[in-house]
Amino acid sequence: MHIDVLTLFPEVFDPYLSTSIVGRAVEGGLASIDCTSFRDFAHDKHRSVDDRPFGGGPGMLLMCGPIFDTLEDVESRRTGEPVRILLTPQGEPLTQRVVAELATAPWLVMLCGHYEGFDERIRTGIPVREISIGDYVLSGGEPAAMVLIDAIVRLLPGALGAEHAAADDSFSSGVLEHPQYTRPRDFRGMTVPDVLLSGDHGKIAGWRSEQAIQRTHRRRPDLAIDKPNSLRPTASG
Ligand code: ADE
Repeated sequence: MHIDVLTLFPEVFDPYLSTSIVGRAVEGGLASIDCTSFRDFAHDKHRSVDDRPFGGGPGMLLMCGPIFDTLEDVESRRTGEPVRILLTPQGEPLTQRVVAELATAPWLVMLCGHYEGFDERIRTGIPVREISIGDYVLSGGEPAAMVLIDAIVRLLPGALGAEHAAADDSFSSGVLEHPQYTRPRDFRGMTVPDVLLSGDHGKIAGWRSEQAIQRTHRRRPDLAIDKPNSLRPTASG
């Protein structure tokens, strides 16, 4: 998969994209990611990319010219048709289902807004899928693009390593993860549930499923839970 990120701040992506699972995926050739600055396509000597809104109002808007030019330049470097994504709080809510769908695309182009937003003609003049990472407003689309890249790249075959592959599959079951413990068995009087020390894999799997269902019902009653025995808890955190 190739991902192009179009942004005013390409430098904020470097540390994240070279670290941990995303970094390994890039290093291993599962994904390539290029960040391109709108400012490189500004039309004046001040490298302006924003201007005041017609009709008045606070803040500045990203102008059409540099955005269209950046996009056209980036897209001229490759063949094929990218899936274009505009990160905006007005977009469709990001879910694991959307992530899984996007993870099958060979080429994604992500447009990050900044300031008060975009000239509306960027939305209407470019076929884009508008995506929001939640009902809150960030100062720019960059953190949202990083969230999206992380969620997508970890789904690429081989990104998590063999021992995590099965867990990946079960994400679609849509339940929260069961509680997990590591050493020591007793930490300040807080002990690990006996069942996890029993060595009985059937019992452990049953306990985990049950815990995952209970936790999901309690914390996220809005999440659809399918047949109980098809549950494979994975949604971390
Ligand atoms: N840009 C600003 N806020 C955003 C959000 N919640 N999701 C995606 N992009 C954004």
